[in-house]
Amino acid sequence: MSLFFANFLGRFIIYSYMDSFYIVGGNRLEGEVVIDSAKNSLLPILAGCILVEGEVLLKNVPRYSDVLAMCKILEHLGGKTRFIKGEVGEDLYIDCRDISYNDVPNELACTVRSSIFTLGPILGRMGTAKVSYPGGCDIGLRPIDIHLAGIKQLGSKVVDKNGYIYADGLKLKGEDVMLSFSSVGATENIMMLAVLAKGQTRIFNPAREPEIVDLQNFLNSCGASITGAGSNLIVINGVKKLHGTTYQAISDRIEAGTFMIAGAMCGKLEIKNVATDHNLELITKLSQTACKIERYNDRIIIENRGRPISFGEIETAVYPGFPTDLQAQMFALASVSEGYSLIIENLFESRFKHIGELLKMGADIRCKNGVCIVKGKEKIYGAEVTAPDLRGGASLVLAGLVAEGYTTINNVELIDRGYFRIEDKLSALGGDIKRIKCEKKVDNCS
Ligand code: EPZ
Repeated sequence: MSLFFANFLGRFIIYSYMDSFYIVGGNRLEGEVVIDSAKNSLLPILAGCILVEGEVLLKNVPRYSDVLAMCKILEHLGGKTRFIKGEVGEDLYIDCRDISYNDVPNELACTVRSSIFTLGPILGRMGTAKVSYPGGCDIGLRPIDIHLAGIKQLGSKVVDKNGYIYADGLKLKGEDVMLSFSSVGATENIMMLAVLAKGQTRIFNPAREPEIVDLQNFLNSCGASITGAGSNLIVINGVKKLHGTTYQAISDRIEAGTFMIAGAMCGKLEIKNVATDHNLELITKLSQTACKIERYNDRIIIENRGRPISFGEIETAVYPGFPTDLQAQMFALASVSEGYSLIIENLFESRFKHIGELLKMGADIRCKNGVCIVKGKEKIYGAEVTAPDLRGGASLVLAGLVAEGYTTINNVELIDRGYFRIEDKLSALGGDIKRIKCEKKVDNCS
């Protein structure tokens, strides 16, 4: 999004270029698609680079806008980052040997949720930290109390003032930490803080997502001593220092799931570079929609065979339950499936903003207290809609691909946070989707 200011009668009107997608629905998708490295692995791994007194090379890193935002934070701290040509796509070179700052200001922190993941690493490396409250998709309150409780448990003094977290970690030592909820970010933050703390830290009731295992593997490749990620107890033995490494993150199970749903809705897709055992819940649900599925370890073929049948019901949960990050996309599938579908969201209290946009396309959805019933329609219709957040935006793309007529989706910068050039991948599969830049007057701050 690029902005320029025009001063008109003393009022500043910001003109912002907000990219949009223009989709003509009805094409069948056919062919192969290769899944990128996982956004939700790369973001904590980038935060973890703050701990590393050596050079890091991350292989095959897509330019997700959230990754670019984290690179800006590392550079603000005194680190260096550079994309370089890799064997496949681009690699990302990171060098945090000369980190000399310990603060993350609001203008950088507010762009991504993962900015809060830097608190533990800065504290562990620098001894003190000043980090502004994080941003991220507007899907709920998203407090950071569990992060802070864990960091205090390891001996840090934490002051939460004027939207900043001030912490000192001069007396950090390993401890037992019980998480009140299996928060992904809090598990990652505490893991990273414990890496350089004296003694042993045990994290009880941690998140068990594959991205937590990936972070463990990355940190251990730098000389950390962590075991148990993916289970209900993570043990970290503090070490003195971390050295550089070369690392390939796991593939993105949410991008993979998004394309699996696309295949079930309107095509025959061979989805490659997938750890299919990370998507077992989704694959089970899709197998109930009458699409044909051939599942292998690292790829999956999903073929739509006429109007899908409802998958019945999904209820989001922490891993290995049904992922909340695929909930919005399942609304798109349910909207055109035969029969009723029940969708319950348990993790984020306002992760339903995409429903209002789907209703504009003719979907039939009713919700009450986080429980939604979708009555599938033979047809939904193109409309002008706005991406409310990353995964809600992905849901609108899927709906646009099957809608009658054309759909304009505004605010696609939100989709760029976690899908790299999704329009190119869908066009290559036969989807009729184009990115357009359109200037919008954002009447705002005089
Ligand atoms: C991570 O967010 C992911 N983001 C999210 O993906 C994902 O939806 C979420 O985990 C759940 O799987 C990244 O990894 C960058 P949580 P995170 O802490 O860490 C509450 C996407 O679309 N909570 O597990 O913020 C919180 O409010 C994004 O790729 C507290 O109450 O998720 C929420 O209700 C969206 N206090 C629940 O826990 C805390 O201190 C789950 O949050 C922390 C969290």
